[in-house]
Amino acid sequence: MEPTIKKMTMNDVTRIVEIETASFETTAWSKETFVKELTGNKFAHYYTVSLDDNIVGYFGMWIVEDHAQITTIAVDRDYRGRKLGAFLLEYAITLAASHHVDVVSLEVKIDNEPAIRLYESFGFNYGGIRKDYYGPGKDANVMWVKVNER
Ligand SMILES: CC(C)(COP(=O)(O)OP(=O)(O)OC[C@H]1O[C@@H](n2cnc3c(N)ncnc32)[C@H](O)[C@@H]1OP(=O)(O)O)[C@@H](O)C(=O)NCCC(=O)NCCS
Repeated sequence: MEPTIKKMTMNDVTRIVEIETASFETTAWSKETFVKELTGNKFAHYYTVSLDDNIVGYFGMWIVEDHAQITTIAVDRDYRGRKLGAFLLEYAITLAASHHVDVVSLEVKIDNEPAIRLYESFGFNYGGIRKDYYGPGKDANVMWVKVNER
């Protein structure tokens, strides 16, 4: 089964929120937030990955001039460990490069091993800690990569 990547549409939001809610315990975005991102944010780029027309993951990214920030990335629990996260991230970075982005950055919970390993495998560097970013006692690592130096 070949994964396919498509731009996220309003029709996808219910399925996306299903994956989002199962993936992020306390910080999941609501349907309204995704709708706002898709309809009212000119800097936003949201894509889904599907297997056999079933959406199994997605990412979001803001591109502002030469900087891109990955706002979210998740893969349905049942489909993890099949390189779909890597597929999405590769697509995101290639998209950023095509917009002449210099640096891609993101925040990740400091104990989120799978995600941190994924970002490290793409050459992401550590850019410091954001205290309480996800709520009291829940710190984030800032991670970044130079698009042309991977
Ligand atoms: C992070 C996430 C998107 C990875 O998706 P995935 O499709 O399972 O990841 P992949 O199969 O593409 O794995 C690619 C690499 O990531 C790392 N990785 C993925 N899962 C891992 C795990 N459970 N433990 C350690 N490293 C892991 C490995 O380096 C892996 O490469 P390898 O298979 O050669 O070892 C997925 O775990 C997820 O949706 N998590 C919940 C949402 C989340 O935390 N998103 C990140 C927010 S910052």
